[in-house]
Amino acid sequence: MAIQPPYPSFETPDVIDDFFVAGRNLWPDLASFKNLKFDREQVPAEIVRFLRSTTLNEHGVAHYLGSYFQNYQNDFKLRFWSAMWTAEEYTHYIILRRICQGLDADLTEKDFHGLEMGDYFQNMKAYLDRIKVDPSIDMRMLQLIYGVLQEYGAVIAYTAAAEQCGIPEIAAILKRVAKDEMRHCRFNQVALEAMLEHCSEGEKALVWPQFRAIWGDLEMPTEHIGYFAEIGATDLYTSLWDGEKKSKIVLYLSRYFSKYRQYMNNSASA
Ligand SMILES: [Fe+2]
Ligand SMILES: [Fe+2]
Repeated sequence: MAIQPPYPSFETPDVIDDFFVAGRNLWPDLASFKNLKFDREQVPAEIVRFLRSTTLNEHGVAHYLGSYFQNYQNDFKLRFWSAMWTAEEYTHYIILRRICQGLDADLTEKDFHGLEMGDYFQNMKAYLDRIKVDPSIDMRMLQLIYGVLQEYGAVIAYTAAAEQCGIPEIAAILKRVAKDEMRHCRFNQVALEAMLEHCSEGEKALVWPQFRAIWGDLEMPTEHIGYFAEIGATDLYTSLWDGEKKSKIVLYLSRYFSKYRQYMNNSASA
């Protein structure tokens, strides 16, 4: 039986502090990303479109933050993480936008307006309510599990874009962004693990089925903002997951989450 809100805060000081310290040194050369110039002819049109939409998506974290705050309730440590995470994603926005400008494919006023007008909060809430495997699941748990999938999806998308972009300088930047996304994925994992130390057997037993439910009905954040449908953002994103990459995602996520299956047995025998 899952606990009822308000949820108690769980202490993960080392987790949060370690990520905070590491994150402060990620882009020491940020100021140098100015006046980039690239030959657009060398970059496939689909990758240019992906870069534009993912730049806008990195700016969209301002929407996502509201949902994180809601789902993390009064857990101060996770609220701090939300703020740190937002800053790191915003850094990606700055860098990626410079790349778009360097490709002469900058974002427009229309793009920002379309993004900012989206009803992300309500749409994401409806989605999370729909995919909950237990109506009283701690929303932090649901958000962290979703976060592992979302961030690993970003790792794969940026890695694939780096491989296909045709310009080594852009590829090197995209691989660095992918590394950050892996760090975000890892954060969601270690925070989930720290949280489980404070959970009942019944709550722990929810992780595996919740992962399965999200994976079986996965909607990326872009699917909850109308403007992204207009520019085909999710299709662009998931097209980078095709074939071999898709197998990599399935393998990675199944391997990671399979360790939580044991809790279902423990719960059943308790
Ligand atoms: Fe990002
Ligand atoms: Fe991320």
